[in-house]
Amino acid sequence: MARQHTDRDEIVDLDRAYTLGTWTRQRDFDPTEIVDTDGPRIVTADGDSILDFSSQYVCTSLGYDADRVADAIAEQVRTVPYVSPGWSTEPRARLSEKLAEITPGSLQKTFYSTSGTEANEVAFKIARAYTGKHKILSRYRSYHGATAASLSASGDPRRVAQGPDIQPEVPGMVKGPDPYAYGSSLDPDQSLAYIDEMLELEGGTVAAVLVEPLVGSNGVLTPPDDYLARLQEIAHAHDALLICDEVMTGFGRTGEWFASELYGAEPDIITMAKGLTGSYQPLAATTVSAEIAAYFEDTLLNQGHTFSGHPTACAAGVAAIETYEAEGLVENARSIGEYLTTELDSLAARHPSVGERRGIGLHQGLELTKSTESREPFEERSDKVSGRTTVLDEVGAHALENEVYFYTSVNTIVVTPPLTISEAEVDEAIEALDEALAISDAAMDE
Ligand SMILES: Cc1ncc(COP(=O)(O)O)c(C=O)c1O
Repeated sequence: MARQHTDRDEIVDLDRAYTLGTWTRQRDFDPTEIVDTDGPRIVTADGDSILDFSSQYVCTSLGYDADRVADAIAEQVRTVPYVSPGWSTEPRARLSEKLAEITPGSLQKTFYSTSGTEANEVAFKIARAYTGKHKILSRYRSYHGATAASLSASGDPRRVAQGPDIQPEVPGMVKGPDPYAYGSSLDPDQSLAYIDEMLELEGGTVAAVLVEPLVGSNGVLTPPDDYLARLQEIAHAHDALLICDEVMTGFGRTGEWFASELYGAEPDIITMAKGLTGSYQPLAATTVSAEIAAYFEDTLLNQGHTFSGHPTACAAGVAAIETYEAEGLVENARSIGEYLTTELDSLAARHPSVGERRGIGLHQGLELTKSTESREPFEERSDKVSGRTTVLDEVGAHALENEVYFYTSVNTIVVTPPLTISEAEVDEAIEALDEALAISDAAMDE
């Protein structure tokens, strides 16, 4: 039941007065109040029902009607809402067992935290302790989190914007190129060879290579099919671990439980969050191989959080995985993903400002361009933090007027609906996008 209020502006005013907004100049912090949800839709205080084709930063993969998860949370809250991590609870044990089952290869034991950021920080610490080496090699077009080490490992414009005066970068974070045939001067093969050479020249000091198997907020970059398995071989040849950040791509989004599987890789560590509970509770996980887990039998794992393995969050995780299974959502992501791919390809063919469609399953993106020949973007990478309104913002705003929401990032319209989405809802979103892309078509260079 939606909460009723008498003065809707009061809430936004209060929020603006007493909350610091994320990643924004506070003058630009002007959120819309959401009072209800329905399947894949969010409902505003004005009564607009918005079809959410972002899944709220690729989080709400189950949509908003996952009763099994809501019931599991309610039941856990009434029995054991919380105990500290030194005690055992059934939800944590069952979730860890389930993660060992659905993650690829020999991944076996899980450390819990509450955000993707922390999951990556934990992965760095484990990789360093296990290998006795300190560097993390990641890529420029990546986002791995907001804290000191995870942002230093990110190539994202938000790292560059931070500057040494606010948060000096953590030492030992080296960056290589990405598989980005559309916009990089290196082709994906060359980018792999470059990383191989970097590992050689770093002289055996790299503990782990960290990648998003299918890059998310830095432009939805789809690698060639054999890229990740080859990267794993290269990392291992240099005695470095492979960490796959599946915070966005995990839990069925690409039509497999994990994108690593899709690409035939068996990472040594996978980090996850978002889809783990369908974001019904804040929960993140770092799952490590049996070999790495065994290392810590006699070595101190010097890490912990008050909310690690929070029983209510773990209960949501178990119920979320049961929901993915019971409703065949991973399969749905694959089949409806094929439908979405076809529809987006035909949009791309109709709209000259769509430079390239990329992605797999329900993790898709459209990169826009001012010019088919030069591939010049409408939006510079720095615009992610500049506050400038770009053509992509206008395209997004137009779709929103038609009650469909897409998020845009790094010159790309990100298309990541919940895994519960139907063909009719895809049609609705495509229609709104079709209309909105007339704006970018008209803004192209002559
Ligand atoms: C790939 C990836 N890794 C890590 C993170 C950080 O997760 P969180 O915002 O939960 O800290 C994100 C967030 O969007 C992400 O997309």
